[in-house]
This record gives sequence, structure tokens and C-alpha cells, in this order.
Amino acid sequence: MNSVRQSFNRAAPSYDQVANLQTQVANMLVALVKKHLPQSFRGLLLDAGCGTGYCLNALQPTYPNASLLALDFAGDMLRQLPHTFSSQRINADLQALPLPAAVLDVYLSSLAWQWCDNQVAAREAARALKPYGEFFAATLVSGTFKELASTLAAAELSPAQHVLNCALPQTIHQCLENADLDILSAHVESITTWHPDFKSLRRSIRGVGANHLAAGAAAPISRQARSRLIEAYEGLRTETGLPLTYEVLLIHARKCRTPS
Ligand SMILES: C[S@@+](CC[C@H](N)C(=O)[O-])C[C@H]1O[C@@H](n2cnc3c(N)ncnc32)[C@H](O)[C@@H]1O
Repeated sequence: MNSVRQSFNRAAPSYDQVANLQTQVANMLVALVKKHLPQSFRGLLLDAGCGTGYCLNALQPTYPNASLLALDFAGDMLRQLPHTFSSQRINADLQALPLPAAVLDVYLSSLAWQWCDNQVAAREAARALKPYGEFFAATLVSGTFKELASTLAAAELSPAQHVLNCALPQTIHQCLENADLDILSAHVESITTWHPDFKSLRRSIRGVGANHLAAGAAAPISRQARSRLIEAYEGLRTETGLPLTYEVLLIHARKCRTPS
């Protein structure tokens, strides 16, 4: 977990310049929130794994009376939040929220859960939410970086040692249900980004800190293996460039009034 945090601390200064995919996903999640939360909302909303605060920035003008909490375990990410921003900053792990039970009206998280134990993250979200509190999350699921996984295998490298292993959507649904969060809607968006070469593709992954596996740093790759990998990846080139696919699960859930 430390290496994931260090990776995001390193990515923080340049994060906003390379975070196109994250911005796209955050916009989808923000749209989902705006669809369900009235503009008159004046409760407490947490962004868990807020990064540089993109979602909160996008929500603040619509919900001027809401109280916002910006939480991230990478202190350097939190330091990128605009100074004028009126949210409280919390440097902590979303798997151990430093919040009392039943205080949140809304829990939001965009692209942070894929490095977490989903069951622990779901229990913490549910614990901190009030009865009927709203839950919105976007996280990566299985199939993410499928091109990288298949070309690693073609280059005789182990995908498990180099590619983030994302959960199945059903596994995440189960984690929410186990935590007494009722799923109201859930769907997977497949987003493919295109890159001029392998170097820029790897840079896009590194730039957003996603080069780290949940269990630690990816294994090193020898020069020969890297050549084999690039050759295999070049086989996927189209006139748009080299593809890299993200499978994004978007979920809206609600905390049950009485836990089962
Ligand atoms: C890909 S970034 C997304 C940032 C932001 N939500 C956005 O949409 O731009 C993931 C963020 O989650 C944070 N993160 C990952 N695991 C976390 C954890 N267990 N607790 C708190 N923050 C975490 C990282 O430090 C990073 O800032």
C-alpha cells in the first residue's frame, strides 16, 4: 500500500496534465451525482481518494451549501487542491476513515478503489454513511489494460506481475451488498485511449500512478523482454495509434436504514 501512496505522491505535480481518462470518468460520476442530488443539498459529502480535487471542484458550484470533505492518503495530491477551495482536507486511508459512524450524507469515490480491499472500503463507506445516505463510485474492473495483459503474455512475461489485477463487477456488487449498501444502478463503461507509441502509453499509466499493483511495484522488465513486448504491442496498432482500454464500473447505491 505504501508503494501505491508513494506512486501518487510522485505523480501529483503533473497529475492534472496527464489525467484525461480520470477527468472523463470523474465527469461521468459527477453527472450521476447531479442527476440524483438536488441543488438544495446542504449535507456532508466526502470524496474518498479525491486526488487533486477534480470531482469536488466540479460539484461545488452546483452545491454551494454542501460541506465538502476531501480525503486522500497521498499528502502531495491534497496539496494540489486550490487554496481557495472550501473543503476540509483529510490525509488518510479510505479503508480506515477517521470519521465517526453515520455522519456522511454522500460518499463519493472516483478511481481510487482499484488499489483497495473492496470489502473493507465498502464497510467503511457504509459505516460512515447515515441511513439512506447516497453512495457513488467509479472503479476499474477486470478487462482493464487487456491489451497490455495480452501482449505481456505474448512476450512471455507474466501479466500478474505487471498489470493491476482488477476485480470482477459482480465481486464489487457483492462487497456493497455485504456492507448493507443497496445498489440502485451499476454499469460498466469501456473507454479506450490511443497513444502514438509504447513509451507514451506507459507514461500515461505512470502519470496517473496506475503503474503500481495493489501488492507493490511491478516487476522490472529486461531490455530484450521490453523489445518483445513493444513488438507484440505494435501488432495492435491501428491508424489511431496503440490502444489501451479501461473498464470502468459506475455505481450508485444507498445505505439501508437498518443493517441486515
Ligand atoms: C487515479 S487517482 C483519482 C483521483 C481523483 N478521484 C480524480 O478523479 O481525479 C486515485 C487517487 O486515489 C488515492 N488513493 C488510492 N488508494 C487510496 C486509499 N486507500 N486511501 C486514500 N486515497 C487513496 C490516490 O492517492 C490518488 O490520489
